[in-house]
Amino acid sequence: MTPLKTSVALRQEFCIETKPEPCGIVIFGASGDLAHRKLIPSLFRLFTRELLPREYYLLGCLTYGESPETDEGFRAAVRATLDAAASAKPEAQDAFLARCFYLPGDYRDPAFYVALRERTAVLDKDAGTGGNRLFYLAVPPSLQEPVVSSLAHAGLAGESGDGSRWARIVVEKPFGRDLASARELSEKLRTLLDERQIYRIDHYLGKETVQNIMMLRFANAMFEPVWNRENVDHVQITVAEAVGVEHRAGYYDRAGCLRDMFQNHMLQMLTLVAMEPPAGMEAEPYRDEKLKLMRSIRPFSKDPVVLDTWIARAQYGAGTVLGAPVPGYRQEPGIPPDSQTETYVALKVMIDNWRWAGVPFYLRSGKRLPRKVSEIAVTFKPVPHSVFGRLGAEHLAPNELVLTVQPEEGISLTIEAKQPGAKLCMGSLTLNLDYRSVFGEEPPEAYERLLLDVMLGDQTLFVRSDGVAAAWGILDSLLKTWEEGERCGKGCGLGFYEAGSWGPGGADELLALDGRAWRTP
Ligand code: BG6
Repeated sequence: MTPLKTSVALRQEFCIETKPEPCGIVIFGASGDLAHRKLIPSLFRLFTRELLPREYYLLGCLTYGESPETDEGFRAAVRATLDAAASAKPEAQDAFLARCFYLPGDYRDPAFYVALRERTAVLDKDAGTGGNRLFYLAVPPSLQEPVVSSLAHAGLAGESGDGSRWARIVVEKPFGRDLASARELSEKLRTLLDERQIYRIDHYLGKETVQNIMMLRFANAMFEPVWNRENVDHVQITVAEAVGVEHRAGYYDRAGCLRDMFQNHMLQMLTLVAMEPPAGMEAEPYRDEKLKLMRSIRPFSKDPVVLDTWIARAQYGAGTVLGAPVPGYRQEPGIPPDSQTETYVALKVMIDNWRWAGVPFYLRSGKRLPRKVSEIAVTFKPVPHSVFGRLGAEHLAPNELVLTVQPEEGISLTIEAKQPGAKLCMGSLTLNLDYRSVFGEEPPEAYERLLLDVMLGDQTLFVRSDGVAAAWGILDSLLKTWEEGERCGKGCGLGFYEAGSWGPGGADELLALDGRAWRTP
C-alpha cells in the first residue's frame, strides 16, 4: 500500500482555552513513579504555557522515610525530574520550584491531616488561592478510601455552600477489583463527597487522538451515515506494549491484563467508537451516552461457546523485544515462578443495540509485544459487487479507517484507486494524516489536559461511578470464572506467547473462526 502525503488547510478554528481559578494542588504520593513520570512534568508544562492559575502552589505529600526531608530536598527531586523530562528551561524551572512545598507524614494517622490542614491554610493565604484545593491521590488502592475519609473528617474536603470555594479529589484506577468492591468503594466515597467532587482518571481519555474520536465522528457529516452495522464489517482495537511488568510486580500480579487495561482503557475507547451522539459535550450528557453504550455491551457469561471461542488469555515467556533479550513474566523480579496472571488478553465483544447488532469488536492488549502501538481500526464491508473483474479484481479490499492513538498519532484511510499510468491498474492507497508532521509539535501529554480539566471543574473526560460499575459488570463473570479456575474451555486456560511476538496462537484462532485476521499495526 502506498501512503500518500497529506496537506492540511485549517479553514477555521474553534477553541476554548480557559485559565483555571486560583487553587492549591496537593499530591499524595509525591515521590512515586506517577508523580515524577507524569504529574510533575505535566504541571510544569502547563506552567510554562501559562495555563496554571497565577495564584497556586504545589504541595507534595510523602510518607515518612521517603526522601527528601525538606522543601529544598523536595525541590531538588522535582528539578531532577524536570531535567530528565527534557523540560530544561532554567528560569521557568526556578519559578515553578519556588511554588513547590513538601509535607511528610503517615497517611493513616489523623495527626497528618491536622498538619495538612495547618500547612494548606498558610499556603492558601500566602498564594492567595481562596481555599480552592485539588487533591491528587497517587497512592495504592488500599489507601484511596482511608485518605478520602481522613480528608473529609479533617474538614479538608468541604466546599463553601455558594460554590465559591471548592475541593476536588482525583482518584487513579483501579477503582475496586471487581463489581462488588467497586460498588463498595463508590458507596463509601458517596457518604464523604459529592460525585461532582470526584475525578476518576482514565488517562486514555486525555490522549489527543482518543479525544479526536468525538470530533471525527460528530463534527464531520461523512462518517456517521456509514458508522453502523450496514456498513462496518468489524472493528479492531489494539493496545500493544513493548515493556514488561517493569517494577510493578506487586500490583500487576494481583491485577492482570483484564483488570489493568480492559476494565478501563479498552472499554473506554470502545465506548467512544460506538456510542450515539451525545446531546452536548458537557459532562453529564456525554457520560450518560457513554453509560448507555456500556450497558449495551453483552456481558461475558459462562456460556461455553463464549468461553471457548471469544477469549484468549496468555502470559509472556522469554524472548526478544526491540532487539534485546528479555526474561519471561515468571522470571521477572517479584513475580511468583508459578504465577497464573495473564499479561495478554484478546476478546470478541458484541454490542446489543440497533446500530451494532452482529458487528464484532475485537479487542487485544498485551505486554512484551513487538512494539508500543495503540490503534483503532474500523474495517468497512466490501463493495457488494466488483465491476473490475476484467482486472482480476473480483474481491476488492475493504476500506479501512485507522486511528492511531500512539505513538505516531494520526488517522489513515485506505481506499482502492487507480494507479497512475497507461495500463489500467488498481491498488490500495493509504491517505495519512500524521499529527506531528501536520501540526509540527508533540501532542500534549494526556495528564496535562486532565489536570487542567480538574482545575476547571470539567468532568467530561472523567469516569462517573455508574460508568465504573457498568465496565466491571461486563467483565465480572469472566474474572470470577478465571479465579474459580473451573475447567471451562480455552478462554479460561492460560496460554503462553514468546516476548516479541504479537501474542498467543489462541488470539489468531479467535479471529480465524470468524474468517478474519488481526491487522499488523
Ligand atoms: C496503565 C497500566 O493504566 O496504562 C499500565 O496500568 C500500562 O500497565 C499503561 O502500561 C499504558 O499507558 P500508555 O499511556 O503508556 O499507553
